[in-house]
Amino acid sequence: IGDNIGLTPALGWNSWNAFGLSVNDAKVRTAAKTMAGKLSQHGWSYINIDDGWEAPQRLVNGEITPNEKFPDMRALTAYVHSLGLKMGIYSSPGPLTCGGYLGSWQHEDQDAQTYSDWGIDYLKYDWCSYSTVTAKNPNLDDMKKPYQVMRASLDKVPRDIMFSFCQYGMGDVWKWGAEVGGNSWRTTGDINDSWDSMSSIGFNQTADGPYAQPGHFNDPDMLVVGEVGWGSNQHKSQLTPDEQYTHISLWSLLSAPLLIGCDMGRLDWFTFGLLANDEVLAIDQDALAKQAYQAIKTDNYQIWIKDLADGSKAVGIFNTSDKYQTITLNRKENNLTAYTRIRDVWQQKYVVGIWPNFNAKVAPHGVVLLKLSK
Ligand code: DGJ
Repeated sequence: IGDNIGLTPALGWNSWNAFGLSVNDAKVRTAAKTMAGKLSQHGWSYINIDDGWEAPQRLVNGEITPNEKFPDMRALTAYVHSLGLKMGIYSSPGPLTCGGYLGSWQHEDQDAQTYSDWGIDYLKYDWCSYSTVTAKNPNLDDMKKPYQVMRASLDKVPRDIMFSFCQYGMGDVWKWGAEVGGNSWRTTGDINDSWDSMSSIGFNQTADGPYAQPGHFNDPDMLVVGEVGWGSNQHKSQLTPDEQYTHISLWSLLSAPLLIGCDMGRLDWFTFGLLANDEVLAIDQDALAKQAYQAIKTDNYQIWIKDLADGSKAVGIFNTSDKYQTITLNRKENNLTAYTRIRDVWQQKYVVGIWPNFNAKVAPHGVVLLKLSK
């Protein structure tokens, strides 16, 4: 046991954006099988069950137990582990989860022990009905409390469990998430598969930037690529292909946990390509664990820059308008004069830039993602 887990952001899948409360054992197995077959060689490893798995009542000894959709949690976890993957689960510090299932309120030690017995590697802890058992207008101490309580419970069990806070950014959680022992913390409300939602979340991750560090990351919510639908009305992400490149590029620049939110049984080639580009993933997983900063923001484009462990820089040139644009990266203005080698990481090839500037032709709502080195 130690606090050296999750030094880089989690790469995994979460059931919520595809299945909502209709998640079940078979869907989780399909996700695991697909991840193991297609994505684990690119670093993906977590299979996380979100809301909807708990039985309406605890066992007589108070132990939490799954509902009929999950006949045997221990066996499911063993299956996920047998594929070389890790298993995540979900709870709330309140009496009930957001979906109305049982939360961990007053059973924190017992639940942490149960997760550990099952072999769980990751816990998402969602505020939800905790509002009913805390102060009406919770202050900072009130907000920290449920996460401190579960942190202490997790520390007592003989298993390393990643701890993901979900309280939608209340109380500027990024300022205290690390100190309370969170490996990541959601910074906003829920994302959906629209440009407005994804871009307003992603391009607003500025105040929290300085707080990202190894083992502790801002979480701008899960990915909305591939087949999504929250359990009803399954459909292809309404983000255009260029918007999806923006989504993955921006989240990688932000050192965000990348949690795929699609039906993995219906993973198409485009989505696979988005998720299996090793050079893009390396930007997300960079060991320095810095978050990109917004270097330039205008009404129709933005430039974000991230420092990388090998001394190079990742640069995202984003066209936020709905027309093609040629956007200039001015090396001098951005302190990049020493960086002469330019690699387009989506295309995985070196490109030529005219000194002292680099002009990128960028699609509407699209991105050119570069790695600049000396
Ligand atoms: C709210 C969270 O923000 C979502 O990610 C999801 O976990 C739902 N609750 C589940 O009820």
